[in-house]
Amino acid sequence: MKILAIDTSCDESCAAILESQGPVLLADVVHSHVSSMSKWGGIVPEVASREHLKALPLAVAEALDRAKLKVSDLDWIAVTNRPGLIGALLVGVSFGKALAFAAKKPFSVVDHVEAHLYSPMLARLDGKSAPPFPWIALVVSGGHTELVRVDGPLEHRWLGATLDDAAGEAFDKIGKCLGMAYPAGPEIDKLVKSEATPKDRERYAFPRARLDGYDFSFSGLKTSVGLQAKKATEADRVALAASAQEAILDALVEKVKLAQTKESIDQVVVTGGVACNSRLREKLPQAYFPSPRHCSDNAAMIGMYAFLQHETKTLKPAPWAETASATRS
Ligand code: KG4
Ligand code: ZN
Repeated sequence: MKILAIDTSCDESCAAILESQGPVLLADVVHSHVSSMSKWGGIVPEVASREHLKALPLAVAEALDRAKLKVSDLDWIAVTNRPGLIGALLVGVSFGKALAFAAKKPFSVVDHVEAHLYSPMLARLDGKSAPPFPWIALVVSGGHTELVRVDGPLEHRWLGATLDDAAGEAFDKIGKCLGMAYPAGPEIDKLVKSEATPKDRERYAFPRARLDGYDFSFSGLKTSVGLQAKKATEADRVALAASAQEAILDALVEKVKLAQTKESIDQVVVTGGVACNSRLREKLPQAYFPSPRHCSDNAAMIGMYAFLQHETKTLKPAPWAETASATRS
């Protein structure tokens, strides 16, 4: 079975083709809109929708070309329909549905965060095994910060999530206060790694929200860094970035460890764009991180999710009336 997978949940137009025999990834295309967003200092949802209109048909054509396939060779079309930017999702769902209708192929919809959750299964594409179940999974990106207990393929239970900003959003907004371009997460990571001392990480005692249970909150931290940044000079920039990064990561690591203890699970997996962070990798040395390409948004994970549904006999065509939703509920 050859699955065309599409993801347009945020600011990347992604298309991948997965062959179930193996499974093998025949194509994995990501057209990023980052350069269009940088000048606005963040994602402008309407601009993202318009970029998808231009980039998604090209990404799908490129994926078919790389896989040396025609649309008629495909067996299934799987598209992300939630959660994310509603306009951006609508472009992907409408495109996937129209393609499926015209080519007389079944189509199904996939939850973007659930696809991130199972991205460690992409190890199977390289003939390796994913880490053994059960996992405590942390999904940390620009739009999501979620802690989930995963017991097996497509068997999971939500433990907690952010109540306000996502961890990646906190990185991006804090970076903006420090004069960095969007997305600031990679730049903060690089700056701290190359220039900060261990003392810089402790110089500012930024607040860590101590919420009961497994939820997170980053809006107070963002305000606190913003206020400090106004009083700071250029010489304080590295310490501000290092202390803010440490506060975000401490909050993540604390809840992961709490979940490990309370759920009696050792194996941790971390996915989403923030999983590329080098200091987070240092702070969770035993955790499993997918390759950076598959931590960030991609359609290979959407194809893998549909493939897992196929393998567990739960893959079903969606009705033609199926549409996009900004949230999960
Ligand atoms: O998963 P992703 O590519 O897209 C979303 O679904 O949001 O994640 C993008 C987010 C951005 O907020 C970006 O700043 C953050 O991931 N990010 C990082 C790093 N690389 C990407 N944050 C911290 N350190 C990094 N190395
Ligand atoms: Zn994502």
